[in-house]
Amino acid sequence: QTIKKFRKTLLDWYDDEGRFHLPWRVNHEPYRVLVSEIMLQQTRVDTVIPYFERFMKQLPTVEDLAKAPEEVVLKLWEGLGYYSRARNLQKAAQFVVNELHGSWPESSEDLQSLPGVGPYTAAAISSISFGETVPAVDGNQYRVFSRLLKIDADIADTKSRKIFYDIIAPIVDPERPGDFNQAIMDLGSSYMTTKNPNSAQSPVRQFNAAYRDGVEDQYPVKTKK
Ligand code: ADE
Repeated sequence: QTIKKFRKTLLDWYDDEGRFHLPWRVNHEPYRVLVSEIMLQQTRVDTVIPYFERFMKQLPTVEDLAKAPEEVVLKLWEGLGYYSRARNLQKAAQFVVNELHGSWPESSEDLQSLPGVGPYTAAAISSISFGETVPAVDGNQYRVFSRLLKIDADIADTKSRKIFYDIIAPIVDPERPGDFNQAIMDLGSSYMTTKNPNSAQSPVRQFNAAYRDGVEDQYPVKTKK
């Protein structure tokens, strides 16, 4: 019951105030979601926007990326850094086009066979493009859910990923998993930020146990290593 209320509160807020203008949210083609998620792995949203738009203008389909000269791809990546991301991205496109004849893997498990695609990116693509009910667990979801539920697992410990995954998985809205994951991203970059969160105004404040108990600054738990 609480879970249903949480989903509705979150998605109603997202429908009103989500960042729909983000260019990778205009449609949910897996190619666009893949390119944006790879760019966003190490780079901020504001920085990525113009790169993403240029990339899509020049290489609008997965076939275009697969057959592009590598210099063209690296040129489009210039300034984003971490060039192995660009090389893997092109390899992933070539895999989809040449080995899978353009038919995308649809589950997060199968998507992880693409070069450069780990559990987070695979879950983002499968939920946003294919409607799979899986949480896209990354630092943002650690922060948001550790506060909402006072989860004490240490995020510096890689074993905690499974703990978070298992807690969040049943909360993801099976009817709108992609919107659910993106709403959590928007929450994490507006009200539930790393520094100076504004939980008093947050749409989900009534579900925020750490805020209720005045201990938000203690989450997420992270030991220095
Ligand atoms: N960060 C990573 N993926 C994102 C997305 N789809 N929207 C906004 N921020 C993101």
